[in-house]
Amino acid sequence: MKNRTLIKDLPSVLGQTVAVAGWLHRLRDLNNFGFAILRDRTGLVQLVLTVEQLGQLKGLQVETVLKATGTVVKKQNKAGGTQDEVEIQVSELEILSPVVDVLPVEINKPEIDAQPETVIDNRVVTLRHPKQRAIFRVQAALVRGYRTYMALQGFTEIFFPVLSGAASEGGAEFFKVDYYGREATLTQSAQLYKQITMGVYEGVYGLSYSFRAEKFATSRHLTEFNQLEFEMGFVDDMEELMAVEEGAIREMLATVERECGDDLKLLGATLPPLGDRFPRLTLQEALQAYKDEGGVDELHEPDLSPAAERWLSTVWAPKHYRSGFVFVTDWSPAKRPFYAKVDPRNPENTLTFDVIGFGSEITSGGMRINRYDEQVRRLQEKGLDPAQFEDYLMMHKYGIPPEGGFAIGLQRLTQNILGLSNIKEATIFPRDVQRLRP
Ligand code: 4AD
Ligand code: MG
Repeated sequence: MKNRTLIKDLPSVLGQTVAVAGWLHRLRDLNNFGFAILRDRTGLVQLVLTVEQLGQLKGLQVETVLKATGTVVKKQNKAGGTQDEVEIQVSELEILSPVVDVLPVEINKPEIDAQPETVIDNRVVTLRHPKQRAIFRVQAALVRGYRTYMALQGFTEIFFPVLSGAASEGGAEFFKVDYYGREATLTQSAQLYKQITMGVYEGVYGLSYSFRAEKFATSRHLTEFNQLEFEMGFVDDMEELMAVEEGAIREMLATVERECGDDLKLLGATLPPLGDRFPRLTLQEALQAYKDEGGVDELHEPDLSPAAERWLSTVWAPKHYRSGFVFVTDWSPAKRPFYAKVDPRNPENTLTFDVIGFGSEITSGGMRINRYDEQVRRLQEKGLDPAQFEDYLMMHKYGIPPEGGFAIGLQRLTQNILGLSNIKEATIFPRDVQRLRP
């Protein structure tokens, strides 16, 4: 729109005549004049309206799209519900899109007063609430920080396919799609594709789409989500991978801090502490600490329980390392997929890690098998048919360096750093076991 001033820029044009445009957020109709609160993507401003202009809004509801021309003045009346210093004395009001229906959910109060599922059912309008909007601005900043960091390292961004012939993470958690009468799957992860690029670029990253046919609805699982992928060749050990991830997370959170101060304030969120270095400990060490300091004995578990993950990343690591992020290494081969590198010195161990990020697992990663014979053997040990992995094994056959990588769950990370109780709140249009709309 030509000559439009954004609400955030109004204080700098005090005394001038400007045009603003946005949504009618709220209306207060007084005797011979009225106040309207206008919302655009940058904020809220109070419009002072004449009786005639109020007449133009007769019968219209909030969310009506307006353009208003008028003079920017110092705010006379603080009762309007916006914090800023200026308001607009409107000389001309134009209705760009009238709304006549009452909103299904009110979005002009500090909080949306509705059940979480109702908020998502009515996503089309609830997303307009400033707090909802803030969540996905933070998410965008996380991705921006990730891309910036990876590009600066000289890595190459890759765009991965979503339709695929084979499942990459094993198990039964994949969706089948009819593909011209053949069976295709929606990718569980870009894993196999990013590994294939190790024959070319040596360092790649990308934002992928992952689909998992989860059986249950939980507060941290979606059926469709994004992963921030990474893969690197000529790697000696896992520490090189963990260093990249730690650097990426620091840059991502720094980007949010730098560019989303207002959003964080609105959400009342404080980012997790980062400390000097994220602690690295083995699964056994993590379970031992949980027993000794957390008082819960899960020493014989092959995995971290959700409670253990929470304790480790929100109690233990902040206390000892001032960090909300922890690397947990050394997982058993049974717990890791077929591509995970088994520790050459200990067949009961894999060279893999998870990152527990302020509440729950946000990343899995590790070294991969890069030799052909070893990968074929491992597939067989996992009960998989190497013939089904012909394209994948072609890379091993024709030379892949020692390599590894990781993937960060984008919605999971957003959920955790903002302290949201359900991952669906960190997902703009969530899909879960029940939900396929809006
Ligand atoms: O741990 P996952 O399954 O690992 C992989 O997909 C590997 N290909 C990664 C690698 O490079 N080795 O998924 C990675 C991350 C998890 O840590 C979690 O943050 C997120 O993706 N994630 C999910 N997020 C939401 N809903 C789900 N159902 C998720 N499953 C995994
Ligand atoms: Mg995992």
